[in-house]
Amino acid sequence: MRKMRMPSRPWRSAATALATVLLVGSVAACGNSDTGDAGNDGKIVLGFSQVGAESGWRTANTTSIKESAAAAGIELKFDDAQQKQENQIKAIRNFIQQKVDVIAFSPVVESGWDTVLKEAKDAGIPVILTDRSVDSADKSLYKTFIGSDFVKEGRLAGEWLVEQKKGTSGPVNIVELQGTTGSAPANDRKKGFAEAIAVNPSLKTIASQSGDFTRAGGKQVMEQFLKANPKIDVLFAHNDDMGLGALEAITAAGKVPGKDITIITIDAVKDGMQALADGKFNFIAECSPLLGPQLMDLAKKAHDGEQVEPRIETEETTFTQDQAKAALPNRKY
Ligand code: AHR
Repeated sequence: MRKMRMPSRPWRSAATALATVLLVGSVAACGNSDTGDAGNDGKIVLGFSQVGAESGWRTANTTSIKESAAAAGIELKFDDAQQKQENQIKAIRNFIQQKVDVIAFSPVVESGWDTVLKEAKDAGIPVILTDRSVDSADKSLYKTFIGSDFVKEGRLAGEWLVEQKKGTSGPVNIVELQGTTGSAPANDRKKGFAEAIAVNPSLKTIASQSGDFTRAGGKQVMEQFLKANPKIDVLFAHNDDMGLGALEAITAAGKVPGKDITIITIDAVKDGMQALADGKFNFIAECSPLLGPQLMDLAKKAHDGEQVEPRIETEETTFTQDQAKAALPNRKY
């Protein structure tokens, strides 16, 4: 049996202990980046940067993501960017530093992501875009984009209006409440709607301004529209929340929403569907926030290095007042 010798120089044993700690630490860190498992218990770690909590849609989307992560056994690091791009960039950099396995985010605006996406790519962390896309020319900066076709939503809203106003000869004055300036849904819904109504020259958008996807924004901008324009026939709001805010302004101006002013919105969250069923809204193009289950599936595939489709489109429908009445009892969000 070998005898243990007491160290003759105590500082040497302290240095050895420190070296051992550093070595073990660096092996563990290498293990982290090699296996990609940032979690302590072998769980996949997903860093998710959410836009904010600006609308009922966003709240439903956040719930879907949190519940689906728990159900899939994925450790979720959730960050709320409060509608600010700089907060999202900071959150993504934090995720990279923490060596998460996968990063997902819903970009508040379309432009300005290339640098941080390249940093994630260089760190070997796959990125998934959810709900909104980016305008990066280099598609290798992210694995996939899962979300709605916003141009189609705007087009469906416009086509419904064209059908309603078929045969109308006099001018139809439309006001538009846009979503967050520079965001994909605001850009695309505006485009799709404008393309659809272009077939009938009597349909004219007389005012268009951002209400930032919020009820308060919708109310405030609608008040301005009503003051500046004595004849408003139609409101196209890029989401339910802005439409709901606008209802207050319309009623306060002594007009009857859904009758004096035709109201078209996008999303189909419960409050919007209730307004439609009550006859205050006239038409909604759906945008589904329930992206959580598919996102978790994609995160697992991206982590395992499996091939994923570069674009996954959400299935959606539209609602008239009668359809809203029928759908409301089973509406999940
Ligand atoms: O990106 C989806 C949009 O963002 C929803 O239509 C809107 O309600 C949300 O804030």
